[in-house]
Amino acid sequence: MLAPSPGARPPGVTRLPDVPSIEVPPARRARTSVLDAVGDTPLIAVTGFLDDPTVRLHVKLEAANPGGSAKDRPAVAMIDQAIASGRITRSTVIVESTSCNTGIGLAQACRFYDLRCILVVDERARPQNVAIMRALGAELDVVATPTDPNVDLLAARLARVATLVAEFDDVHWPDQYSNPANPRAHATGTMAEIDAALDGHVDVVFVAVSSTGTLGGCLDHIRGRELPTRVVAVDAYGSVLFGGTRAPRIIPGLGAGRLPALAQGRAVERLVRVSDLDCVVGCRRIARSDALLVGGSAGGVLQAVRGMQAELAGLRCVVIAADSGHRYLDTVFDDGWVERTLGCPPDRLAELVGTVTTARL
Ligand SMILES: Cc1ncc(COP(=O)(O)O)c(C=O)c1O
Repeated sequence: MLAPSPGARPPGVTRLPDVPSIEVPPARRARTSVLDAVGDTPLIAVTGFLDDPTVRLHVKLEAANPGGSAKDRPAVAMIDQAIASGRITRSTVIVESTSCNTGIGLAQACRFYDLRCILVVDERARPQNVAIMRALGAELDVVATPTDPNVDLLAARLARVATLVAEFDDVHWPDQYSNPANPRAHATGTMAEIDAALDGHVDVVFVAVSSTGTLGGCLDHIRGRELPTRVVAVDAYGSVLFGGTRAPRIIPGLGAGRLPALAQGRAVERLVRVSDLDCVVGCRRIARSDALLVGGSAGGVLQAVRGMQAELAGLRCVVIAADSGHRYLDTVFDDGWVERTLGCPPDRLAELVGTVTTARL
């Protein structure tokens, strides 16, 4: 039998003596549910990645969300907002197009509320991510690569969503590409947390773009608080966002094949485009320099910062790392995949990753 702990209630005593309350930091309080655990992600100082030690770099580790990515935030926000407005009831079927992370966030929220969830993904979806969505109870609809080269995979997914929406009487398509709850979740969550953690002293925030929800949310918070923070959008070569020209892209989550409604009317002060190989190099380098396993888009964003170092001397910068390297072990972190898919042999990759200073003891 377990011995009673020193503070255990003695038999017959119904009330515990008062104990002094302690200040519990928000990130350590007990959560009421998995959805309540979304947000309050850590902001981590990165000290070995850059060559210039005067650039103070932090990474916002969105992989710490329970679904493993930044997309937990808009997923919960979009579902909660639709429940609050009466748009979603117990019988509503949720349908969404996703490149995986939004799907995982939605599958999680829908399972929590016991809502039927159908997610439309394309053939680029990694089997492991599909398995996560299925494990969370979602039904998966996988769209094959279109035969018409002018139709990209996102367009094919959206066409399938339209078909599904027409099939059900009580159906809701959150549409992360146009839903204002998407940027709002990042304005009140991601960027507000960065602002609070650094007391408003943020010179530059670097954001990967796809639906542009994260970017829009950061811009809205910065404008609302009148912060002097500048935002750098990091997009993929081959993405059509911000005047880009469509071309094949491999790393998921970065870039867009069509202009999302959320991006319309949004101007960016600074845009940097990165290649699939940049994403790999950034992921490999931060794994070595700071023991952080980040996902492909975050690797690309980090390489963008590395490329701009000369402009960032003395500044405090934040990179929002949308997901974890755990989801990219068989791609970004696999030498064979990198050589076969991106044509970069391991010795060349090692050169690009470069040497890092890790003497911390
Ligand atoms: C890994 C990853 N990085 C970046 C993004 C871009 O975020 P947003 O859709 O807010 O532009 C996404 C979006 O799905 C993502 O999954």
